[in-house]
Amino acid sequence: MLHRRVPGQSTEVLHDIGDTSTHDLSIPDKDDSNSEAHSEVDIALIRATDTKLNAKQQALWNDRIVKATVCKQIISGDAVDCLELAKVLPVDKYASRAHPNQRLVVAFGVNNCFTTSVVDECATFRKTVEGMLNKDSAQWAALATCVEMVVEKEFDTTKDFLSLFDVAQMTSLKPMLNVLFGFDTERSDVDDDIKELAFEINAQWLRSKDAFDPKAKERPAWAFEHQKRPRELLTTVLPEKSADDMGENPLNLLLPGDETMWRVVLRCFVELTARGHDNGSEWCEILKPFAENPTDGHLTQLSGVHTRTSASQIAKETLRLYPPTRRVYRERKLANKEFMTAAADIEECHRDANIWKPDPLRSMPERWNGLEHKNFEDDVFMPFSATPFNCPAKRRRGQNPPFGLAMISLLVGMLVKHTSGKWRVVGDLPGISEPLDTERTAYGYLRLERISESEAGTTVGKRV
Ligand code: HEM
Repeated sequence: MLHRRVPGQSTEVLHDIGDTSTHDLSIPDKDDSNSEAHSEVDIALIRATDTKLNAKQQALWNDRIVKATVCKQIISGDAVDCLELAKVLPVDKYASRAHPNQRLVVAFGVNNCFTTSVVDECATFRKTVEGMLNKDSAQWAALATCVEMVVEKEFDTTKDFLSLFDVAQMTSLKPMLNVLFGFDTERSDVDDDIKELAFEINAQWLRSKDAFDPKAKERPAWAFEHQKRPRELLTTVLPEKSADDMGENPLNLLLPGDETMWRVVLRCFVELTARGHDNGSEWCEILKPFAENPTDGHLTQLSGVHTRTSASQIAKETLRLYPPTRRVYRERKLANKEFMTAAADIEECHRDANIWKPDPLRSMPERWNGLEHKNFEDDVFMPFSATPFNCPAKRRRGQNPPFGLAMISLLVGMLVKHTSGKWRVVGDLPGISEPLDTERTAYGYLRLERISESEAGTTVGKRV
């Protein structure tokens, strides 16, 4: 979607051209499908159908000049010469992110770094989050125990089939409630509510893709105040918080914290256990010990028999192929002083054949050997965005592991540990030369099937 904003006025929707973004802390338009995202004009920095593009911009578009550097310039607010976008004044940088994210305010009643134009408000919020994510080895060990408790409970069942979607959502959300709110994961009295909450948040993302005119007097039917059930669930699970108060709303933390996590966990688990990769079993064997002892040393330790890779590389490869924020949006000013929304297409950069050789669309954690350097990564790998908007889950602090990579490895490692030889993924998946579908509802049909004792030990890494 492209927006034009006349200075001093609210955003006006110019064209709905089906732009996409999933986790995205800017909400996608209606048709968030891969076919749309990878159509003729798939490499979207600024949509080619924008009538505001001049001839030079159009030519650049047609040449598909898409570079990671341009993405970084869009994110940071630097001038983008090839698109004739002016530099954003430091004072306007937060507004340039907040404006395209206003739909989040309507859909979830949030007020956080993604929606505020006030620098200090974001700095305070960020500091709080940094404190929550900066964990020493004892705290990681305690978190691993919490995660194990949650995963064990999911498989403590007489059922022979489980929804993988539900398991991935619960495995991610309950421990994240612990990280963000100190929720006691030993409790199981609100488990059904937590599951329903995960479902409702996802459903609300989908609802909020409906048409939205920020200038309309009436709030859309999908506005947060009309969504009774998600608000009730938030109150049941976190009674000390108030979902009706924008500053207190637990979704301020849960949206960036959990909506990033569960879809990555789902895809990482599927890549490792269900796609028939030659090295799938070894990747599983690397994540299992990390889940038991999640230290920074273990995260980066290269191991394997036929291959050499690490938990860190497995998590990075998943974030390369499936960045939860596929596109990062900024409001930018054109030379003619009009405003438009520009999208830094992170997913497209991460699949660029010029950078990610060979087989850019295939999951190959081993490709990261020799590439795990800050300079390389900061230039072309942006799942956590880029300067000055880097996610607090991105970097390690001292000896403490980087939260994002460690948490993905921990959650997937624990799932692998508790399913190996006992449960297998069933349901159609594409061949390994194609990436998995990144659409929000994709793979809702995948199930975990209990493995009978006679079959046990034969299924890890095998595609069913
Ligand atoms: C795999 C995990 C994660 C990924 C891929 C991710 C991705 C991102 C991205 C792309 C941005 C920047 C968006 C922009 O530039 O507009 C961001 C910012 C942020 N993320 Fe994350 N995130 C992850 C985990 C988390 C967690 C667990 C939290 C905890 C609540 C969190 C909190 C934040 C905050 C507060 C910001 C704003 C930082 C600022 O503006 O200074 N993220 N994240």
